[in-house]
Amino acid sequence: MILVYNKFMAFVIAFAGKGGTGKTTVAGLTVRYIIEKRKMPVLAVDADSNNCLNGVLGVDVHATIGNLREESLQTIRSGAERPGGMSMEQLFDYQVQQSLIESKGFDLIVMGRPEGPGCYCAANNIIRKYTDKLSATYPYVVIDNEAGMEHLSRRTTNKVNLLLIVSDPAVRGIQTAARINGLVDELQLEIDTRVLIINRISGDEGGGLKNLAEESGLRVAGLIPQDTLIFSSDLQGKPIFQLPHDSKAVKAAFSILDSLDIP
Ligand SMILES: Nc1ncnc2c1ncn2[C@@H]1O[C@H](COP(=O)(O)OP(=O)(O)OP(=O)(O)O)[C@@H](O)[C@H]1O
Ligand SMILES: [Mg+2]
Repeated sequence: MILVYNKFMAFVIAFAGKGGTGKTTVAGLTVRYIIEKRKMPVLAVDADSNNCLNGVLGVDVHATIGNLREESLQTIRSGAERPGGMSMEQLFDYQVQQSLIESKGFDLIVMGRPEGPGCYCAANNIIRKYTDKLSATYPYVVIDNEAGMEHLSRRTTNKVNLLLIVSDPAVRGIQTAARINGLVDELQLEIDTRVLIINRISGDEGGGLKNLAEESGLRVAGLIPQDTLIFSSDLQGKPIFQLPHDSKAVKAAFSILDSLDIP
């Protein structure tokens, strides 16, 4: 994809939630939803240092921001000639462009982790800067975050239009979701809409958990059932694009997304 800086800003959808609740799966389904329903290009951002979104989307990762940084540092240390006399900043921009993984309907950028000991902040700051920068060139950005709350204070992106908090069908998942919701307030993050999705529902627990969530101040966008097709597709390393349209989870996720006023 050739990047042309346009005037519009992307609609940014980000994910948060406890570990293993289905953030990456639902992020992948969201990318598929936008491609199928909006027929517009998506920038998928894997902001989890333990990257998995590429597997869900069915693409290989040839570069991450984490190891880019290491490469650039090596260039500085070695005093090596930079291509075309580029400045460090230009070289970096160029490398970020090169590290975009292009696929049908979407591009993916992966934060990864810095090699060796070192802080993740630098990779994170770069991913934020480029997510913001690239937001001007894609109509939609979908950001898969790592589990927990730390990424909220680090801020993977500046402006989020829709934050989807994902919980498993358990009280602790809802409590984590409520804490995330509280932290968003505390940090005064720029997030237009936040909703909860309760994933992996397998019985009649949905109603009670929905009530608990609402009592905790969360807006529940919907429930996604436990779906053996998702599980086996993950087990076989197949991308979510291959899941049939009538899969229980695909249908539920799409109808939740339909209800969320995504432009
Ligand atoms: N609705 C579902 N039905 C069946 N399996 C599911 C469903 N949603 C997610 N899973 C499975 O649950 C596991 C965890 O999902 P996923 O990796 O999306 O969670 P996550 O929140 O991104 O995890 P992490 O916190 O480690 O990043 C995966 O094996 C996935 O296939
Ligand atoms: Mg994940």
